[in-house]
Amino acid sequence: MTREELIVVEPVERILISGEEIQKRVAELGRQISADYAGKTPFLVAVLKGAFVFLADFCRHLTVPHEIHFMAISSYGSATQSSGVVRILMDLPASPEGKDVLIIEDIVDSGRTLDYILRNLRTRNPASLRVCTLLSKPGRREIQVPLDYIGFEIPDEFVLGYGLDYDERYRNLPYIGVLKAEYYT
Ligand code: PRP
Repeated sequence: MTREELIVVEPVERILISGEEIQKRVAELGRQISADYAGKTPFLVAVLKGAFVFLADFCRHLTVPHEIHFMAISSYGSATQSSGVVRILMDLPASPEGKDVLIIEDIVDSGRTLDYILRNLRTRNPASLRVCTLLSKPGRREIQVPLDYIGFEIPDEFVLGYGLDYDERYRNLPYIGVLKAEYYT
């Protein structure tokens, strides 16, 4: 048995993206973004909590100097359904004015959270504003948002692991798994 199979937990129906595939793609994104930001010092804004695992791996592939900051946003009303309500739980401690801001997200689903963050950050006059998301679910989009860097496009299934939770648990899984249907209800 591999380490990944051993960490399969009860709510996981199947592995959608293996830890190995994630690591390969995260390294590619790190290389691409380092090249795109050559000579600059990107101001990373990671959206808590889901993005913390992706950020930790991604930043270690960056070869340009960078700042790391966090915003905490809440968008989900229940364990599996978006309420459409977005609010800031923790704002940036430093001003992004004049900075090359790169938003780091774990997943863009309806697009509501990101749309809110983009509109909010634009008012603070960054020099540039781009988005890097590990996952995108285009089939669920309600608001069109510009995504500059996407790790993986995924189908409309509830996913967990690698920072994403189900009911605040399982963020530590090294892979992206699909939640068993019985947990939706
Ligand atoms: C998730 C995810 C995104 C957002 C995407 O966060 O991290 O920020 O939902 O959904 P949307 O495109 O439909 O707005 P969540 O509110 O679950 O919080 P968490 O990261 O703390 O788990």
